[in-house]
Amino acid sequence: MPDPFSGFSTRAVHAGNEVDRHMVTHPKAQPIYQTSVFVYDSLAQVDDFLAGNPDNYMYTRIGNPNPAALEELILALEGGEAALFGASGMAAIGAALLGNLEAGDHLIASRELYGTTQSLIEKELGRFGIAATLVDIRDLAAVEAAITPRTRLIYTETASNPLVRVSDVPALAALARRRGLKLLVDNTFLSPALYRPLDDGADLVLHSTTKYLNGHSDATGGILAGDAEWVARARRFQINAGGSASPFEAWLTFRGAKTLALRMQAHSRNAQALAEALEAHPQVARVHYPGLPSHPDHALARRLFPRGCSGMLSFTLKGGLAEVDRLIQNLRLAVFAPSLAGVATSISHPGKTSHRALAPETLAELDIHDGTVRVSAGIEEAADIVGDFLQALDRL
Ligand SMILES: Cc1ncc(COP(=O)(O)O)c(C=O)c1O
Repeated sequence: MPDPFSGFSTRAVHAGNEVDRHMVTHPKAQPIYQTSVFVYDSLAQVDDFLAGNPDNYMYTRIGNPNPAALEELILALEGGEAALFGASGMAAIGAALLGNLEAGDHLIASRELYGTTQSLIEKELGRFGIAATLVDIRDLAAVEAAITPRTRLIYTETASNPLVRVSDVPALAALARRRGLKLLVDNTFLSPALYRPLDDGADLVLHSTTKYLNGHSDATGGILAGDAEWVARARRFQINAGGSASPFEAWLTFRGAKTLALRMQAHSRNAQALAEALEAHPQVARVHYPGLPSHPDHALARRLFPRGCSGMLSFTLKGGLAEVDRLIQNLRLAVFAPSLAGVATSISHPGKTSHRALAPETLAELDIHDGTVRVSAGIEEAADIVGDFLQALDRL
């Protein structure tokens, strides 16, 4: 019988592929299942996949062990019945909303939501006949007044960007439950190491895992966790619309999440030290950090986040754009990079980046000014971070 593996190109394609089928031991660290498709030994295995066996993988857009491992890990950290990992925070948010809401439905959202989430709600959901009312989420009477017979969801963020205003999740959850609505909380800024919204009655929790859950500024992703039916519909949407994550991004995030608690302690400690130092500096008009007694949500933050308030803070200079530009040039450790939650300290300018689309009067209403700078405190030594900002401010 001719050998079907005799040709050079055939050997190039097939040799070595079976190595992991013959291994006696298994790897301590999880392998990266960098494959788009899985091999079946029989038709019966296909039937087993279609019967819903979660350990039976067919095609990576539908499921892959690396995203599945991350989903299991985040469920263990956040609680909840089910979880779904997607290609970005926005992919998870899109799957949560478009997979669950119908034309004619209505949602109530914080008017301080992350800018792209607001765009998704206003520019995309609206086109599909899903209406939204944006409210001051700390005004519970305004939230209640916005409820219509078609309202299904209240959507907020644990802490807002960039002023770190805190949502009263327990109160919103009680309101949602009383009125038969679901509460979805984007917990990106706190992470489950510091706060678990599902424990306080939220139905669904979301993360841009691009931020703290991964923590190293090298992988993009998003996770939705909580109510099993909502997550299942979001998963169906993600499979149909194509927002699944790559195995490598899932693997990096899985690896990063293992040190989450240690990192969040350091981020919180450093942000607190920096916030206190900034508040005492003559070039600084205001500092926004819930760990400071001067923050309007300090008491709520102490109640909800006893383990720390995370690494996100912002401050407003007495000067404007020219001074912000000089600050960027003067900083030697902190970099200007419009993302957050990495191990390295970074700053961003909301007016020029995340909030650029907003009209000047809306920005003023939100208390965001030309001189407002957002800081993501990293895990370096506190004295080095504080020293860097003080030397940069002293030279303005
Ligand atoms: C609070 C919050 N939610 C969602 C997102 C979107 O996540 P991604 O950029 O991973 O799509 C971001 C991004 O900055 C964010 O800050």
